[in-house]
Amino acid sequence: MRTVPVPAAPNNVVTTPPMGWASWNTFAARIDSNVIRAQVDAIVSSGLKDAGYEYVNIDEGWWQGTRDPAGNITVDTAEWPGGMAAIAAYIHSKGLKAGIYTDAGRDGCGYYYPTGRPAAPGSGSGGHYDRDFLQFSRWGFDFVKVDWCGGYDERLDPQATYTRIGDSIARATAQTGRPMVFAICSWGNGSPWNWGPGLATMWRTSQDIIYHGQSASMDRVLANFGSAQHPTAQSPGHYNDPDMLVVGMPNFTAGQNRTHLALWAISGAPLLAGNNIATMSAETRAILTNREVIAIDQDPLGRQGAKVAEDDTDLQVYGKTLAGTGKRAVLLLNRTGVTADITARWSTLGLTGSVAVRDPWTGTDRGSFATGYTASVPAEQAVLLTVTGAEGSSPGGHTGPIVAG
Ligand code: GAL
Repeated sequence: MRTVPVPAAPNNVVTTPPMGWASWNTFAARIDSNVIRAQVDAIVSSGLKDAGYEYVNIDEGWWQGTRDPAGNITVDTAEWPGGMAAIAAYIHSKGLKAGIYTDAGRDGCGYYYPTGRPAAPGSGSGGHYDRDFLQFSRWGFDFVKVDWCGGYDERLDPQATYTRIGDSIARATAQTGRPMVFAICSWGNGSPWNWGPGLATMWRTSQDIIYHGQSASMDRVLANFGSAQHPTAQSPGHYNDPDMLVVGMPNFTAGQNRTHLALWAISGAPLLAGNNIATMSAETRAILTNREVIAIDQDPLGRQGAKVAEDDTDLQVYGKTLAGTGKRAVLLLNRTGVTADITARWSTLGLTGSVAVRDPWTGTDRGSFATGYTASVPAEQAVLLTVTGAEGSSPGGHTGPIVAG
């Protein structure tokens, strides 16, 4: 029996996958108040905010591991005028929510892998959980991502450590009244899909989608999509996290950007853009803000779509049950190096009779089809559809009702 009461873990902060923007993929550790403010302004002016992107997440680099004699985190106020409370207030003043970042160990990733600043010892929350999470909450942050560089090096146990952190966040929320989305980032270490659902809003399922200094690659996008497949772990408020988006980053084509967002949408994954919002093209903006694709991701049932068929090796069909009757999102994924036809068969999706097919990217109906629908899919790309028909007598694949564990 516990001697110190711990409030229930803050595990019901949101009911749909968090959407927003995070600083890491584009800026690495080179962030300050000016960088974040410019992105905040662009999230509003570009229409991303209106499309549902809400969290502005400050990742690695905001803090160099310094504390005052009492142990409280201190930051360089030349870079962050008014401290971190001021940037959180600026984000809130635009109607958005604020996210921050730390590490489970004593030293953070900026100590082990410097990315634009000198190695920063002490840049983790190890030994300071209650103090730091209360501080983040008092500063006004609504989201905290907890990384694992120090945790890994110090050989901490992922489940035990993140459980302690969840308890600290719950105590902070109890004091301030401000709930915080808790994002576990152990890169899949400790299989967080087995224990994350009772503890956190989201848990990373794999390594980074892009490494510092490298270009976005479809291989990594597909690898992270694959590693995130834990459909029974997911339910409203609790999500497998295949990592932040590389949509709109250098070298990615429009087709690759659409495929990437489609993969995350069929997964019901958190959508945290990682490109430079202030300089993105109109084409990237149109992709990121596509209402029908976002609606697939944000569907209130919170399901993770799962593979229902493999037409041939690496020609795959994924289905996601959507709210309502007889509604599915369908993804035809061509993992091969050549263009190929892929067929979605209604029986594998738990549907029967004639089914209406819609292209969410263009918002156009494709007609009704008796047994299935075939599309030509370019190499390493995907076709995304929404379909509406009659429910079959038995649910197809993993798309039927799932009681989340
Ligand atoms: C990694 C993490 C990335 C990013 C980076 C910062 O461990 O997976 O998402 O936060 O650290 O150094």
